[in-house]
Amino acid sequence: MDEKKVMLSGIQPSGDLHLGNYLGAIKNWVERTDEFDNYYFMADLHTITVRQNPADLRRRTLEQLAQYIACGLDPEKNTLFIQSHVHQHAELGWVLNCYTMFGELSRMTQFKDKSAKHKENINGGLFTYPCLMAADILLYQPDFVPVGEDQKQHVELTRNVAQRFNGLYGDVFKIPEPYIPKAGARIMGLTTPDSKMSKSIPDGCVFLMEKPEDIQRKFKRAITDSDTENCVRYDPANKPGVANLMSIYSAVTGKTFEEIEAEFAGCGYGKFKPAVGDAVVETLRPIREEATRILADKAYLESVYKAGAEKASYVANKTLRKVYKKVGFVAR
Ligand code: TYM
Repeated sequence: MDEKKVMLSGIQPSGDLHLGNYLGAIKNWVERTDEFDNYYFMADLHTITVRQNPADLRRRTLEQLAQYIACGLDPEKNTLFIQSHVHQHAELGWVLNCYTMFGELSRMTQFKDKSAKHKENINGGLFTYPCLMAADILLYQPDFVPVGEDQKQHVELTRNVAQRFNGLYGDVFKIPEPYIPKAGARIMGLTTPDSKMSKSIPDGCVFLMEKPEDIQRKFKRAITDSDTENCVRYDPANKPGVANLMSIYSAVTGKTFEEIEAEFAGCGYGKFKPAVGDAVVETLRPIREEATRILADKAYLESVYKAGAEKASYVANKTLRKVYKKVGFVAR
């Protein structure tokens, strides 16, 4: 019997994958592949809480799968699947809606941010989104959920809902831990060092599939700081732009902040910014090349997501059956 601990996470294919997704989440998934039984998915059900262009959503979902594999997620060692292919997510999501409180959902930062951004479409799905995310997680009984800092609140809500459910019905769900990387947990926008890197501000966002010259240009234009010091020093409170670039450089090279300060002592930002750009370009180059190659092979991608959904459904169904029995539904 497989005694490995379980790791699970997902990303919404609502935009192209970016450096924040890679450093905050995917890199961490890849590094632990051999240690865990792994489930990673394209969270397409979540994306429709905001209006999507259907053709773009379909294309991006497959591109995301090709990029997961190109980043190093071997489909032989990781169950890779499309969320909407495993109907148990939506079913458990409904059940958990009934065990999550209005007040809890009202406190979610992502709901507050997104409802401020999409005032014309504050739909019920946007509000109850964390219940679906809790279902995504709890179906697989994972030990760890590797995410960036911004998703920690949702994983904590998942723990609370699971504990509430277990309190009523016995030990149905394993209580998962968020697993946040030391370097890269919160990458800020290159043009907005006070807000996280996100696709909604493309000038400050580096996409995994972007051309090297475009990546370099974005780093050269990155906002540093208005101090006159012009010195590479880690001081997030007073020098957030430089601290962000140092975090990126540290995450891609493995160097500590002290080592980075020593490397660029006396150099100024003019030399530092392109050096970070180069390090990112070299990290992303093999990923971009491999993803392009994989994406051309549609039959291979289909075989991966079909096998993934089959394995995921089998595991998810075990948990869902238990839940249905506990709450009192008649067995099929
Ligand atoms: P999403 O799609 O917004 O982001 C995917 C992952 O990337 C991380 N991330 C970042 N990390 C560091 N710096 C950034 N600037 C940055 N931007 C994004 C996120 O923390 C996340 O780990 N609700 C989730 C998707 C989801 C999920 C799940 C995750 C659905 N079901 C179950 C885990 C388990 C979301 O919207 O992430």
